[in-house]
Amino acid sequence: MKCQRDKFSLQRKISYLNGAYMSPLMKKVEKAGIKGMIQKRKPFHISDSDFFRETEILRNLFGQLINSPNPKRHVIIPSVSYGIENVVQNLSKKKGKIVLAAGQFPSNVYPWSANSNYPLKFVAAPTLGKNLAENWNEEILRAIDDQTAAVSIGQIHWVNGIKYDLTSIREKTRSVGAALIIDGTQSIGALPFDLQAIQPDALLVAGYKWLMGPYSIGMAYYGEMFDQGKPIENNWMNRQGSDQFSGLTHYKDHYLPRAQRYEVGEHSNFILVPMLIAAIKQLLKWTPLGIQRYCEALCYDAIDSLRSEGYNIEDSKVRASHLFGIYFNQNTNMERIERALSKYRVKISIRDQALRVSPNVYNDQKDVQRLVSALKEAII
Ligand SMILES: Cc1ncc(COP(=O)(O)O)c(C=O)c1O
Repeated sequence: MKCQRDKFSLQRKISYLNGAYMSPLMKKVEKAGIKGMIQKRKPFHISDSDFFRETEILRNLFGQLINSPNPKRHVIIPSVSYGIENVVQNLSKKKGKIVLAAGQFPSNVYPWSANSNYPLKFVAAPTLGKNLAENWNEEILRAIDDQTAAVSIGQIHWVNGIKYDLTSIREKTRSVGAALIIDGTQSIGALPFDLQAIQPDALLVAGYKWLMGPYSIGMAYYGEMFDQGKPIENNWMNRQGSDQFSGLTHYKDHYLPRAQRYEVGEHSNFILVPMLIAAIKQLLKWTPLGIQRYCEALCYDAIDSLRSEGYNIEDSKVRASHLFGIYFNQNTNMERIERALSKYRVKISIRDQALRVSPNVYNDQKDVQRLVSALKEAII
């Protein structure tokens, strides 16, 4: 794939290597949003069926991206914390520990920690060094036992891109009757994910990072475990017969079947939904594998030269290519690094002790070379 920068409105003087913070919008995604906004000038053109048409398209497209064949298992969520809360309230094991990776994003921590039925077991990353990813995965597996209610984890770690061995984690969780919940926010869209192969019980994805959509909309998958659950919100659209607007006050006791009950109120957002549709359509053309390969080739030489300067970056076999952490030792410090990044106008994130670099198909060698120049200059 060649660089796709022309599909975006980025400024050449800034090297934006920070998709894990927030993706830039593609021009056509912007256009879809503006069209949605303008549509409301003339609400008489918005029909009852419009409330359901585009959301169904979105559920289908999301399914194509994650190899999940049943769109009725996909729902629109406003945030990961919202999606996880529905999980917490409806898990089949009503008590037991929740296994998490230490240092994972708080949206996949607070909904659990707020519920006293579920003590948390954080599995710390081994200290940086050889076989870190392998050892970490082994320790996660060791932490899963018959006292475990769920493992709630990412596909990768959101700071250093280390991949979790979801296949083995699924096997172990299944053997002890525990759920597997995946926060795919930092991977889905840019890293292949096969829902039918992994078979998680739920998957939550914020839309504004690797799905390349707008803020405040994301997608979730809920499996059979949640089919009879009670949603955290009682919005009218999730009740049976809600598509018949003339009969809405014939109040219904029953939710829509299976996962659909968990969809957020006002999910037929006429601005955000078309934007996310436009974004995912483009991702399906590029493919997550294509994006991985692009990012790997883009950063290959740069990573080599940063390593030779003393920076530490995990082996590409155990981490994602669209998101990785750079660690440093005594030959520099955070203050020098921040100053150099600012001088070269390179945008990355500093999370814990890592410099998180997260490129995408809009980046080119110029961006990566600026990062290398800045980090070389930061060496004492
Ligand atoms: C791994 C991960 N999950 C979720 C989120 C966003 O969570 P929420 O949608 O609850 O704001 C982020 C944001 O950085 C993230 O990195």
